[in-house]
Amino acid sequence: MLNKKIQDTINTQINAETYSAYLYLSMSAYFESINLKGFANWMRVQAQEELVHAMKFYDYVNGRGGRVVLRMVEGPPSEWNSPLAALEHTYRHEQKVTGMIYNLVNLAIEERDHATHSFLQWFISEQVEEEASANEILQKLKLLGDAPGGLFMLDRDLATRE
Ligand code: FEO
Repeated sequence: MLNKKIQDTINTQINAETYSAYLYLSMSAYFESINLKGFANWMRVQAQEELVHAMKFYDYVNGRGGRVVLRMVEGPPSEWNSPLAALEHTYRHEQKVTGMIYNLVNLAIEERDHATHSFLQWFISEQVEEEASANEILQKLKLLGDAPGGLFMLDRDLATRE
């Protein structure tokens, strides 16, 4: 049986992961609107990954005999000033999600919930990857500066993500 505090915090995390999916899908639409189809593809795949994260938490709560409670998902922004601004937002957002996962880990330790602690290890590693991949694109964009040729090459690269 899942302790109530942990259950509530995981339900908040399900909301945050779903919001992440919404945020990246909105970024995908933004990139479509400025004709950067590769960036749009990368964000769309990212949105799908976020739904997978949400469902992992969803299945975990059910598997432990807890109760999933879905809450209202906030609307994400729909415009960014530049690809750089969108990627800065992505990187900041992933750092925020990492902080939420760490808080959950701390709670699992406080509540001596070893099963939840063990379950969360996957998310700790996943967040390292999530931050690294967002930061990699961000750093490339910073290097490109105002060179449009580089931006199109990066866009072609990002089109290959599946
Ligand atoms: Fe589910 Fe990008 O963290």
